Amino acid sequence: MATLMPEPPASRPLVIASAPGKVILFGEHAVVYGEPAIAAAVDRRVRLELLPSATGEPSVNWYPMREEHHAFLLNVFKLAGIEVALRAATTSDLPSAAGLGSSAALTAAAATAALSLAGTLTAEPGATLTPKEEEDVARVAYEAEWLAQGGSGSPTDTATSSHGGAILVDSSRGAGLIRTVTRADRTWHLHDLEVPRLTLVIGNTGARGRTADQVAKVKRLTMKSAFARETVRDIGALVREALPALKAGDAERIGRLMDRNHNLLCVLGVSTPKLDQLVEAARRTSYGAKLTGSGGGGCMIALTDRAAETTKNLERLGAEVYAVKLGGPGARIEPDA
Ligand code: PMV
Repeated sequence: MATLMPEPPASRPLVIASAPGKVILFGEHAVVYGEPAIAAAVDRRVRLELLPSATGEPSVNWYPMREEHHAFLLNVFKLAGIEVALRAATTSDLPSAAGLGSSAALTAAAATAALSLAGTLTAEPGATLTPKEEEDVARVAYEAEWLAQGGSGSPTDTATSSHGGAILVDSSRGAGLIRTVTRADRTWHLHDLEVPRLTLVIGNTGARGRTADQVAKVKRLTMKSAFARETVRDIGALVREALPALKAGDAERIGRLMDRNHNLLCVLGVSTPKLDQLVEAARRTSYGAKLTGSGGGGCMIALTDRAAETTKNLERLGAEVYAVKLGGPGARIEPDA
């Protein structure tokens, strides 16, 4: 990491924005093969302030903003048409690199702040963005992330952080379509999904699974095994079953589907003994539990109305635990407190 920059006298932020993290409720990995997936925002956010740069150089948390570490932020400024050097200051109540979408949330918050500074977005602090403003934020955030990742990744995380609530990603269009994104040979139809504000307990294994490695592992398996390909289709069918259960807020049914989704992810080889141990422990006081995101480490989620007991059971096994509510607002401008 580069050397810290000298800290000049405090100045007031030009704009403050925030965006939520996310969990994948159902359908990770199978979504890579065109099956549907459901992602939902959580009530833990990343907050970003943009301030004038006293040094004339762009910086983030007092470190020089460099292409190799902060490409997505530099891309956001470029795409929003910001030409002046800015200082970004960030705070987050999401763990990073744990599959909870902290990087997408930061990118969406940065896009919101930058578009507000550029005058493209005129929402008042705390107000919900208009569909057009949200579309602008999601587009800039995804483009910035996609370019920074060298042209890979789906728009799921940035769309969920921008939109809030929950999103159904599908290869075909349906009711509640927000927008369609096409990159190279892939098309994603993103739909708004209403989800009840259920409580989830998230357990972080502390191990870092790289999404690209897990995706490659599943690809190898599906290429050689018809059973793995069938498992992918089974996950897709399960996601379709989850839609009415979520709509009805039927926690017991949602929980049972989470259990089944976890077992199918185990068949695809993306769980780990630690994830299985946490899922098993959480199930004693939950409707259901599963790993979330790419697996190989990262986090699991449990749907429960006994959050305190579930938290204790997971902490006893060494996990870092967060109780969150599903859904909630997407990216927004924050008041200058
Ligand atoms: O690691 P996460 O939470 O960003 O989830 C990745 C989800 C996958 O389905 C495994 C990959 C993808 O591009 O959809």
